[in-house]
Amino acid sequence: MKVLILNGPNLNMLGIRETEIYGKKSYDDLIDKINGYAKELKIDVKIYQSNSESEIIDIIQKAIGSFDGIIINPGAYTHYSYAIAHALAAVSIPAVEVHLTNVFARDNFRHESVTAPKCIGQICGFSFFGYYMALSALKNLEV
Ligand code: DQA
Repeated sequence: MKVLILNGPNLNMLGIRETEIYGKKSYDDLIDKINGYAKELKIDVKIYQSNSESEIIDIIQKAIGSFDGIIINPGAYTHYSYAIAHALAAVSIPAVEVHLTNVFARDNFRHESVTAPKCIGQICGFSFFGYYMALSALKNLEV
């Protein structure tokens, strides 16, 4: 099974950015964790991070035929990027949305996700472990 993992804007700033909210671990620490989870679950992963909406859309579009699942943390684009939502809908690859933080316990504008309706489901609030849950969820879709 091959899964595309796509992290959106500012996730590369983990460990530097608002550490009281996102924690002290770096983006490289997240990559190491995800690679460990993938190995444990015997899933091939390709991990991308982009701060650009258009690049995220291009990566989603190119996933057709190459990936069985997508895990996406669209960062702030979650809350307003209809273009990313439409790209997820266009490719028809099962997707899981992940957020490190519990977006429902934060600012009101974070309570809405325009991308989650195009995903199978959303996992939020479990920090890095959310990616394990998402990988496991995709794996269990396989019949
Ligand atoms: C986030 C939550 C978003 O609201 C925020 O804009 C982010 C990170 C998370 O992983 O908790 O950039 O996606």
